[in-house]
Amino acid sequence: MLPAIHDTGTGAPVLFLHAFTLDASQWDHQVAALSDDMRCIRVDLWGCGSSPAPPAGEPALDGFAAAVLAALDSLNIDKVAVVGLSMGGYLAFTLWRLAPQRIRALALCNTRATADTAAARGDRLAMAEQVEREQSVESIVEPMVARMLSPGAHDEAHIVDPVRGRIRRCSPAGIAFAQRAMAARPDSTALLASIDVPALVIAGSRDAIIPTQEVRAMADGITDARYRELECGHLSNLERSRAVNQELATFLTAATMAS
Ligand code: MLT
Repeated sequence: MLPAIHDTGTGAPVLFLHAFTLDASQWDHQVAALSDDMRCIRVDLWGCGSSPAPPAGEPALDGFAAAVLAALDSLNIDKVAVVGLSMGGYLAFTLWRLAPQRIRALALCNTRATADTAAARGDRLAMAEQVEREQSVESIVEPMVARMLSPGAHDEAHIVDPVRGRIRRCSPAGIAFAQRAMAARPDSTALLASIDVPALVIAGSRDAIIPTQEVRAMADGITDARYRELECGHLSNLERSRAVNQELATFLTAATMAS
């Protein structure tokens, strides 16, 4: 089963992978800025955006990564530059583990290579059960907004309202799938040294979910990664869209021309 695919623009293909509780529209600002020169491919995770419900079986990022590769096949795309934010970064590591030959460059934003601690895993499983029990995602909307956006961005309707809308478009099954799949993800730290494609790493100085020290440590494990710290919370591409657009335009142009 293929996820919903959003295919915009022409040029070298770039795959955008969204964060937890969001959907492909998280990348609207970047697609608007880049799609004159690049083919921007976006997918919605199962149960989020326009994607169908998660398939039956044990939730795993590997399963969704295989569906993403099948989506690229359906578009006749062999190699892509991958841009992933947070859960999108976990998925980018999964793609790198499964099919590194399909990846031309990696931009990893507000993400980490490590697996969950036991406490974090417990919190994920509790949220999965909560939304399933309530058959609604409403109770997680404001807590997620508070965690993902820095205090200044909470008052910016153009940032916060679309974030609320994206969370509400996820189904309880989609949220539960994502949490269980992230809880089960392996540690990717050992993969870092194998990354031999151009890499860009972006961190947010006010990120309450993944602190800069963790992002920096991940960047340090990749040979020649460019590390950039922006003044913002977890969703750097929404809070600092212009800066992220500039970073991505420079990085992706150089990376796709070089290969
Ligand atoms: C995300 O933004 O994708 C999530 O907060 C990541 C996580 O829960 O680890």
